[in-house]
Amino acid sequence: MSTPKHQLVLTRPGFAGLLVQEFQDLWQLFGKPVGTAAVAFDEHEVLPALDATVFGRQYLPRATCLQIESIEQVVGVIVKRLETLSNRANRHAAKWTLHAFAQDDDPALQLAGKIEKALLAAVRQRLPRLFQRFITPVQAQSEFVGSPGSSGMLVQIYLPSLTELWFSAAGASSGPSIFIAGNQRMRHFPGAPSRSSSKLEEAFVALGRSPKAGEIAVDLGAAPGGWTFTLVRHGATVTAVDHGALMLPKDKKFNERVIHLLANGLTYKPPVAVDWVTCDMLVGSLETLRVLERWLEDGLARNFVFNVKLPQAQPWPVIKEALSLLSRYPWAVMKAKHLYHDRQEITLMGCVLGNSTEATSEEKSKH
Ligand SMILES: C[S@@+](CC[C@H](N)C(=O)[O-])C[C@H]1O[C@@H](n2cnc3c(N)ncnc32)[C@H](O)[C@@H]1O
Repeated sequence: MSTPKHQLVLTRPGFAGLLVQEFQDLWQLFGKPVGTAAVAFDEHEVLPALDATVFGRQYLPRATCLQIESIEQVVGVIVKRLETLSNRANRHAAKWTLHAFAQDDDPALQLAGKIEKALLAAVRQRLPRLFQRFITPVQAQSEFVGSPGSSGMLVQIYLPSLTELWFSAAGASSGPSIFIAGNQRMRHFPGAPSRSSSKLEEAFVALGRSPKAGEIAVDLGAAPGGWTFTLVRHGATVTAVDHGALMLPKDKKFNERVIHLLANGLTYKPPVAVDWVTCDMLVGSLETLRVLERWLEDGLARNFVFNVKLPQAQPWPVIKEALSLLSRYPWAVMKAKHLYHDRQEITLMGCVLGNSTEATSEEKSKH
């Protein structure tokens, strides 16, 4: 009898319920939560790409659930599965990598590390040809990314608890993120006044675009300055709107390129349209959406990143309202994402044009 297979979609711990709601409401796909950070779908459902979802972070195709009795027992079962797959992988000379993980600082993380070590040792001994094709997750980030037809294989072992794991082995180009658990941690730049700066760095990656030297930005709710720091780091000149104090590094670059405006970000309007507007104001979600709507309606910026704080109770209707707002504007990119650095919040992002060089030169030729 073959083992039942599923597709697993991972999210941030605590958000499995919202992921179930999102897939049900937007795609009529019915999933079952697995712990607090994953949802299992039938193997035959056609799932949306991770990038098109708000809460999806990682995807485990053809995943099977194994009970963990001991490390030796579970490694034995996985090696048998890999033995079957290795004939195919060896024939195609496919490289492969391994992500063995649990979420956050779950005690299961340590167990995942031990299983990974024992599994690689067993593969080295029992499947030496397959072992020769192993590359580390970091090597895979450059080898597998950007080669959609790549025959590389991604083996994932996810532990939602200390007693069970989910095993998945599939083509690296079949939909999963190349980052472990789909988490792309951004580095914290020295001098950044707050950890929030990493959130904006991550949003730029998700948007596929970041400010270019000389672009003009408005940062609403800027204090203590993490996002302003990031905008300047990418080359923008920034109007930082907030009644709070900025704690930017005392350096020429920030003195010359930041104007601090003690104003209300809910009503502030730039005198002329700008390249970027970012917003991280600590205000209600619906107020944030109204501000974004005004900026979009009046054509005040060509790119935006807005953080929307979600209510604890009933966040889904707010998210639907945000998605509906984005869908009313036919911009090249419009997305809503629960980023790795987001907590009880989501990030809305958009740009008028797909290609940044095009955007700048076209806009410049008008002046
Ligand atoms: C989460 S903090 C912003 C952090 C900032 N993005 C950073 O990276 O350092 C929220 C900010 O929103 C500001 N804020 C709240 N209501 C505002 C309003 N109506 N206008 C301008 N700023 C506002 C607060 O003063 C606070 O500094």
